[in-house]
Amino acid sequence: MFVILTSKPGQYRTEIGPGLRAVEAWDYLFYGRVRAHFVIAELQGEPRVRVIDEVEPPVVNEVPSKFLEKYVDLDAARRSLQSLSRFGGMDIALVQQTPKPAEPEAPPEPGKIAITFVSNGGKRVRVAKDSNLLRASLRESGGIPFKCGAGLCGTCKCRIVQGLEHADAVKAKERKHLNEAELAAGYRMACQTFVAGDVSVSW
Ligand code: FES
Repeated sequence: MFVILTSKPGQYRTEIGPGLRAVEAWDYLFYGRVRAHFVIAELQGEPRVRVIDEVEPPVVNEVPSKFLEKYVDLDAARRSLQSLSRFGGMDIALVQQTPKPAEPEAPPEPGKIAITFVSNGGKRVRVAKDSNLLRASLRESGGIPFKCGAGLCGTCKCRIVQGLEHADAVKAKERKHLNEAELAAGYRMACQTFVAGDVSVSW
């Protein structure tokens, strides 16, 4: 089964988390301006879907996936999306952000792990085991936001949506920016976090 996850810049965003596999991403352009992002995702189980209201402070809503409209296959989800771009004579376009659903998996290399930057179109890189998350992002253009790189500013707050068990122990500096609920949900400060196995990270 497939669902469509919607994000509207400046209003809310819907995150890919455990139980959801991103397949395709699309931008919705209205007279040339991006008004929404859509991700077609495959449901694996019955996960809760995190929808973040982009207010200050952000409001996190956990929506049971049973409330989302389901599509039996990818084509049905695409057809539903395409119907959005037909509205009278208006200049509306849907632009696909990922040319292909899934890249073939590279064979694992000894001593290397995979990091998937979910908020960067699912970009996947291989780095040395025990790499620092922010440094890996910088080297590989992963896109995690940052300022200080020293655990002070809070900018690099991110969420390890898969593979949290591969992250090292939470540091005291991280606790200055993250409460217990956020830590339990997989939030970390990228500049303070080292990973010893495959992880997927969003922000
Ligand atoms: S970049 Fe400032 S806390 Fe990580």
